[in-house]
Amino acid sequence: MLSQKITIALKDHSYDIHVGDGLLDQAGKIITPLLNRPKTVIITDDNVARHQLPRLEKSLDLVNITFDVIILPAGEATKSFSQLENLLDQLLALHLERGDKIIALGGGVIGDLVGFAASIYLRGIGFIQIPTTLLAQVDSSVGGKTGINSPRGKNLIGSFHQPALVLSDVSSLSSLPARQLLSGYAEVVKYALINDREFFHWLEENSAKIIAGDPTAQTEAIITCCRAKATVVAEDEKEKGGRALLNLGHTFGHALEAEANYSDRLFHGEAVAIGMVMAFDLSVEMGLCPAEDAVKVRRHLERLSLPVRISNINHPVSQIKMTAERLFNHTLHDKKISDGRVTFVIASGIGKAFLSAEINPDDVKHVFQLALD
Ligand code: GLY
Repeated sequence: MLSQKITIALKDHSYDIHVGDGLLDQAGKIITPLLNRPKTVIITDDNVARHQLPRLEKSLDLVNITFDVIILPAGEATKSFSQLENLLDQLLALHLERGDKIIALGGGVIGDLVGFAASIYLRGIGFIQIPTTLLAQVDSSVGGKTGINSPRGKNLIGSFHQPALVLSDVSSLSSLPARQLLSGYAEVVKYALINDREFFHWLEENSAKIIAGDPTAQTEAIITCCRAKATVVAEDEKEKGGRALLNLGHTFGHALEAEANYSDRLFHGEAVAIGMVMAFDLSVEMGLCPAEDAVKVRRHLERLSLPVRISNINHPVSQIKMTAERLFNHTLHDKKISDGRVTFVIASGIGKAFLSAEINPDDVKHVFQLALD
C-alpha cells in the first residue's frame, strides 16, 4: 500500500499524519493504540456516510472496536450552534468518557465542528481526523483550528484543539464531485505560493494527474502541503504571527464568500483561488511583485478551470450585487484585524509571501474592482 507519514511536533502534543491510498481500510489497526478502551463514536455527514462510512466501520469491526455513528446533514450550515448543541447532546447520551476519542470522518465542516465539540465536551476529549476531501486533507484537518460559523461571520467561534491523529486516504477523493476536488486544489497551490516555488513548478507538471485521481501524485501533493503546514504550526500554533501566512487569499476570499452567503454558489477553495489572484494583483499594484509571477498564478488556476475573477463564477452569484465597496467592508471583519488595521498576506513573488498591515484601502478596493470587471 502506498502511504507516507509525517509528525507534527508541538510543545505539548505531537501527532502523526498518515497519507496514502487505501488507509481507510487500515484505520482500525492504526487507531487501536490511541484508544483507552475499544470504543469510539464516528461523526460524519450524510454524503460521506454513503460513500466512505462502510469502509471505516469494517476496519473497526476487524479489530473489535465497538462504535456508534452520528450522521449530520452535509453542508456549511452544519457548522452552527444548533448542530453543535445537537452533537454534544448525542455524545453525552452515549456516555463518552474523557479518556475516549471520537472520530471526525468528512470534509472541513465535519472536522471543524467535531474538533470544536471535542474541545469542550467534558472540558476536552481527544479526536481523530479522517478527512475525506482534498481541502480537508491538505489544510483544515491539520493544525488544530476548530470552530463553527456565526451569523456574523465564518469561523468566528472556535478553539485550538489538536487531533490525536490525521488519516488521509486519497482513495476517498475518487467519490468527490469534480468541482469540490478542484476547489481543494486551490489550497494545494496556496502552499506553493507561500514559500515553495519549486513545488509550484512541480504542480505545473503534475496538476492534471492530481485532478485525474493519480494516487501517487495526490499523496505527494498532500504530504508536501502537510509538511509545510506542520512547520508553520510548530512555530506558531496559536497564530500569533507566521501562521497567518496560511491565510493567503483568504481575506479577499472570505469577503466573496460572505457576499455569496457562504452558500454552494461559491466554494471556499474557489473563493481562495480568486483571492490568491487578488493578493498577487495587489502585490504587483504596490510595486512589490513582478507582474509575470501574477500572470503565472492566474494562468495556472485558469488552466484547471478554477475561477480567477468574480465574473468567472459559473453559479448565479452574479444575482448578488457585489460592489468593491461592499467587498472591502467585509475585510474589516477579518480575524487578523488589529487596532483597526487588517493584515493582508501579499507576496514579492511566487513562494515569497509575507504579512503586511501597511495596505492602502484604495488599493484593496481597486483590486476588488479588477476582479469584478
Ligand atoms: N487554514 C489556516 C490555518 O490552519 O491556519
